[in-house]
Amino acid sequence: MDKRLVLFVYIVCFGLVSSTSEPNAYAPEIISSVFNSRDIPLFQGTVREDETVVHLEPQLFARDNDTVGSARLICRYEIVSNIKKIPFVIEVKNRETGEGLLKVHEGERLSYEKRKTYKFNIFAFDCVDPPYDKKSSRAVVTVKVVAADRSAPVFEKTTYNADLQEGVLSQNITQVKAIDRDADPENSAICGYDIVSDEAPFTITSNGIIKNTKAIYHKDAYNYILKIRARDCAGKVSEPAYVNIIVKETCTNGWTDFPDHIEYTPGSEYKYLTDSARLHVCTGSCTIDRVSVRVNLATNHIGKGCDRDTYSILSQRKLCGASDESVDLLPTATLASNWTSVVPSDDGNDGDRIFAFDGKSHHIVVPDAYTDHHLDSHFTISTWMKHSGHDDLVTKDTKPHHHGNKEHLLCMSDGDGMNRHHYALFVHNSKLVFLLRRESSDPADLEVFKPAEWRWLLDEVNDGRWHHYALSMDFPELRLLVDGKVVEANQDNFEMLDDWPLHPTDKVHYSKLVIGACWKGLDETFADHFQGYLAGLSLLKGRTESDKVIQCLNNCQENLEFTDLENMPSGTVRLTKRLLI
Ligand SMILES: *[C@@H]1O[C@H](CO)[C@@H](O)[C@H](O)[C@H]1NC(C)=O
Ligand SMILES: *[C@@H]1O[C@H](CO)[C@@H](O)[C@H](O)[C@H]1NC(C)=O
Ligand SMILES: *[C@@H]1O[C@H](CO)[C@@H](O)[C@H](O)[C@H]1NC(C)=O
Repeated sequence: MDKRLVLFVYIVCFGLVSSTSEPNAYAPEIISSVFNSRDIPLFQGTVREDETVVHLEPQLFARDNDTVGSARLICRYEIVSNIKKIPFVIEVKNRETGEGLLKVHEGERLSYEKRKTYKFNIFAFDCVDPPYDKKSSRAVVTVKVVAADRSAPVFEKTTYNADLQEGVLSQNITQVKAIDRDADPENSAICGYDIVSDEAPFTITSNGIIKNTKAIYHKDAYNYILKIRARDCAGKVSEPAYVNIIVKETCTNGWTDFPDHIEYTPGSEYKYLTDSARLHVCTGSCTIDRVSVRVNLATNHIGKGCDRDTYSILSQRKLCGASDESVDLLPTATLASNWTSVVPSDDGNDGDRIFAFDGKSHHIVVPDAYTDHHLDSHFTISTWMKHSGHDDLVTKDTKPHHHGNKEHLLCMSDGDGMNRHHYALFVHNSKLVFLLRRESSDPADLEVFKPAEWRWLLDEVNDGRWHHYALSMDFPELRLLVDGKVVEANQDNFEMLDDWPLHPTDKVHYSKLVIGACWKGLDETFADHFQGYLAGLSLLKGRTESDKVIQCLNNCQENLEFTDLENMPSGTVRLTKRLLI
């Protein structure tokens, strides 16, 4: 009974209320998929400071279990916070679904610098007019304010200067830097740099380090001006800055404007080697105490700096007053007289022609008809020689080593029957040796022991260069001149051996004069071959050439002269070398 009464009263009361307003049995509910530990629905919002709509995660919806009238619809949301001012409102987009849009309140502006997050409660209301509308339980919304990219990057300097050494691939020519005043790390970060200039052989890294992509030389480009820009990660681009790269020439000490090659025509008087040569000294590389210059005339041909290709020794002999009685033992072969053509030679003029001897098979037999090859007590033998047989084996420091072979420049020996040498000039190890066996038919003479072999120890023999050798005999005195200078004999460089004269014999019917080897009459073979080069081999018989003449023959006609020393203004270096003839 009691229960029924209560129900009745309730229905009556309900009937009373609904008579003035709509039925409203349920309160709305805010729907979310995310809840906190106390089952309160949560929403996460983000908004850029310069925007007005907050992006909510999940989207905001609400529902009402009432099924009729405005009680089933959602009409508004309320934002409640203990912080006084929350600059947001929620606009209901759809009353049926209760979809809400969280927006920045009109007239309000967010500022990332001022406040980065907001947290507040929201409630949903149905569409029954207040005060009978019903309010949902609260949901919690957190809004994160995101900074807008307000500033573009700015370079620390508008112009950068850097040096680049020519020829170098630099990993860091210079480093540029731009900064961005945006407060948030995302917008203030510099994401990259760009070189705007076209086709410059440079790159820039994301850290602003400038590198060159190929070697650059001062002669091609003195400098480069690069226009560069910086980009922040939000895409804003800076005003340009400029990088001025100076290509530095690598300094080398040395001469400039000194000709590599000068043509000189014999007889063309003197010729300046240079008027404009400059010595360039790099600053800091050295302090100049003094400058000395050495200029050499060089030729690979006979002699040391003499131009002997262009005129013959014969004419020089005349100039020097040399005897015209001397016999050229290496004449140029002609059709009529070709006995020197068995050995390879160059195309030098008479007396300068170089004959090459291979040390094995090359030799020249001087015909009897050409000259009587017997010597008496006075004669001069002279020759240019470049002994090259064992250049590689012989240096100053190693022991000369020539397998002990004699290498004959010249040899006069028995033509048949015996192997006796009458006279010979040969190289033996580091020695130049001259052998002379007197021949006598006087029985008294045959018993006398007399000088027969003269040996000189000479560096020139094995230095692989051309030297002039002249032997002048005034028996028993034999003088050797090397390159026009008398070799002073002493205990260390000279020895002389005595021997018996050669006895007359009827086994031998003739003799043979050979250049570049020795004839063994008994064996009928050539032996002791010379390896190297000979030129201008001549023989003067019955007298000796004066040392002065031999010296003169060795003098180069061309000289380097240094002139005008007195006329040089102080502080300048003037080189006026000339060729004199
Ligand atoms: C509304 O109805 C749903 C089912 O449709 C139910 O899960 C929910 O609890 C109800 N809400 C209220 C406040 O009764
Ligand atoms: C690159 O060179 C500049 C100076 O030219 C220097 O300040 C900078 O530290 C260098 N950077 C690197 C990564 O070596
Ligand atoms: C030298 O000339 C003669 C003829 O006059 C010839 O028979 C000979 O082959 C020539 N010798 C050389 C090496 O040319």
